[in-house]
Parts: sequence; C-alpha cells; structure tokens
Amino acid sequence: MRVGVVGATGLVGTEMLRLLEERDFPVTELRAFASARSEGRALPFAGGTVTCEVLRDGCFDGLDLVVIDVDDPLALEWAPRAVAAGATVVDNSAAFRSDPDVPVVVAEVNPDDARDAPKGIIACPNCTTMVLLTALAPLHRAATIRRMVVASYQAVSGAGQPGLRELASQWTAGAGREEALRRAGTVPDLLGAGEVWSRPIAGNVIPQAGSVKEAGYTSEEWKLVHESRKILHAPDLRATATCVRVPVYVGHSLAANVEFERPLGRDEAAALLAVAPGVVLVDDGHGAPTALEGAGIDPVLVGRLREDQSQPNTLDLWVTGDNLRKGAALNAVQLAELLVQD
Ligand SMILES: NC(=O)c1ccc[n+]([C@@H]2O[C@H](COP(=O)([O-])OP(=O)(O)OC[C@H]3O[C@@H](n4cnc5c(N)ncnc54)[C@H](OP(=O)(O)O)[C@@H]3O)[C@@H](O)[C@H]2O)c1
Repeated sequence: MRVGVVGATGLVGTEMLRLLEERDFPVTELRAFASARSEGRALPFAGGTVTCEVLRDGCFDGLDLVVIDVDDPLALEWAPRAVAAGATVVDNSAAFRSDPDVPVVVAEVNPDDARDAPKGIIACPNCTTMVLLTALAPLHRAATIRRMVVASYQAVSGAGQPGLRELASQWTAGAGREEALRRAGTVPDLLGAGEVWSRPIAGNVIPQAGSVKEAGYTSEEWKLVHESRKILHAPDLRATATCVRVPVYVGHSLAANVEFERPLGRDEAAALLAVAPGVVLVDDGHGAPTALEGAGIDPVLVGRLREDQSQPNTLDLWVTGDNLRKGAALNAVQLAELLVQD
C-alpha cells in the first residue's frame, strides 16, 4: 500500500511509523507530512529515512491510505482531500467521530464497522475510550453493560509533545524522564512551564482533562460517553466520567465501576478477560498493573477485579494502557491491516 502519515513528527505519528515497520505492514511507498517547521526533516523508517513534506494541493495523489495524526481543524480540512485523491483515511483526531457516516472503531471490539465507511473515513476513538473499551467489550458482550462510572488517570502525552515537555521541564528527575525528552525531541525548557496547564502538573493531579463543556463535564468526559455508545452500538448506555490529568509520561489508566444487566461474577469476568484479544488480566495475587507497566506494550492491562459490595450485578476494575500505542497508533495500524485483508 502507498501510505501517507499526516503529523508524522508528533507523538502519535512517530509511533505510527515505528509500528508500520514493526508489524511489517506492506508499505510500497511512505509519505510523511508535518508542519513547515519539519519540512525536509529525515524521519527513520524501515532501515532508511523518509523526508518530511508539508501539506499542499495534490500531496495525497497516488496514495491508498492516509493516516491522520494532527489536531481536529487540520484533520477536518485535509481528510476529505485525501479521500478525494482516492485514499481511505484512518483518523486519530476527534474531527469526525460524531459524524453518523464515520464509524468509530476499536480493532478488537467492532472491526466490522470499518467496512461501512461511506465517507471513506474511519475514526479511532480517543485514547481513554480505546483503553477502557478494549477491556470492557468482552464483558459487555456477555452480560450487557447497563451503567458505568469511570475515573481516568491520564498521562501528559495525551496532550501531545507540549504535554510531555511541560512535565519534563517541571520535573528534574523521575522514571521515564529521559525517554520523554527523547520523544519530545527538544530542549525541555523551550516552552517553559504552564503553557499546556495553568497549574503545575509535576507532583500534582489536575481533576479536569479537556475543556469544560455541557453540564460542567469536560470534552474528554463527553467523548468517553458518546464514543462508548457508538462503538458498542448501545445508544442507551448510561455512562459518566471524571477525567483527570496525572504526572505520568505515557499510559492512561481508568478505574471503572460497571453495572451489568445480569449477574457477572468475578470468576466469570476473569475467564472472559483471560481470553479477550488485546487484554492481559494481571491476576497474579497483586493484580494492580501500573501505568509504567502498561506503557510500551500492545495489550491493555486489567487488574483489581472486584465484585461491588454495595449493589448487585456490578464489578469494579482497573485498566491501564499505552495511550500512544493502543490508544492511537496501534489501533490505526490494526484498522489499516483490516483494509489490506479486504
Ligand atoms: N497523544 C495521544 O495520546 C493521542 C491519543 C489518541 C489520539 N490523539 C490525537 O492524535 C493527534 C496527534 O496527537 P499527538 O499527541 O501526536 O500531537 P503532537 O505530538 O503535538 O503532534 C502534532 C503533529 O501535528 C503536526 N502539525 C502541526 N501543525 C501542522 C500543520 N500546519 N501541517 C501539518 N502538520 C502539522 C506536527 O508537526 P511539527 O512537528 O512539524 O510541528 C506534529 O507532527 C491529535 O488529533 C490527538 O488528539 C492523540
């Protein structure tokens, strides 16, 4: 396939190039796009390099697949242009997720939806929803989720390179700092503190990820509600969330309280999770996988599986996953692999 990656220098785009190579995706030609700041930059790919281009008229000509890893306004503008040039688009931004003619797909959960993309655009959900639903879908299939109450613990890399830089510049030590600086690709103090978040993120917890929207819930919280309903084909699913930013470089974690239509005990849930694709149940007696353990690997890790003692048919669980891999780039490559199979 002739593949274009838009935003190839960003956190997700960099991971995307790495995964295309790692998974032996059949790339016959790769074109990498980023801003004018990166024009001409050589990005490592498949033992050689690919030179970064800027977006311009005709830049997608001849491509079969374009993966979009830039912010929403750029995706809104350039995704339809990629489709018009004959490519299928896999989009990691939020630009098209609420469009009824654009499927939102988690590869392990609703892959068949990718085959019904009338606009030629397939969206990946946001990284928090992706991690959560990879774990919850097998339980939903077995016992139908009636309501879920979720708290997220979201890494700073969810806010892109500026988020990584901000934490790294505020912290002078800590696990993962060197890797974060390498990924951020710049001197940590360049942006200074406080550009992304108005309060320090190092050594802090900010109980508001995303911007505040309807009824006081944030954009991240509403995404989790609406995208979960769309992916699970459950328009009446009751869901509520509190999305929190924590000083973790990579890896989103969630604590979920999930009520089902029928009794689903811990043992049955554990058996379902043990064979679920893309999930590893960490049930070794500790059962408490941390964000650092989930970062850099493909599956999401589930632990702390408990039967809620306060009401029937309800489980509490913890899930953590790499927001740049399963949360974005890996899912996009998995969707591209589905397209190749077709
Ligand atoms: N980070 C996550 O965990 C995550 C997870 C799921 C989805 N997403 C979504 O994925 C997208 C990318 O996120 P990210 O975290 O990778 O962001 P990022 O690290 O900030 O990277 C942004 C990318 O956009 C490029 N860009 C900026 N202006 C451009 C322009 N005018 N023309 C072309 N390219 C331009 C940048 O190129 P330069 O390097 O040249 O500036 C860079 O490659 C966003 O929509 C985000 O919401 C992110």
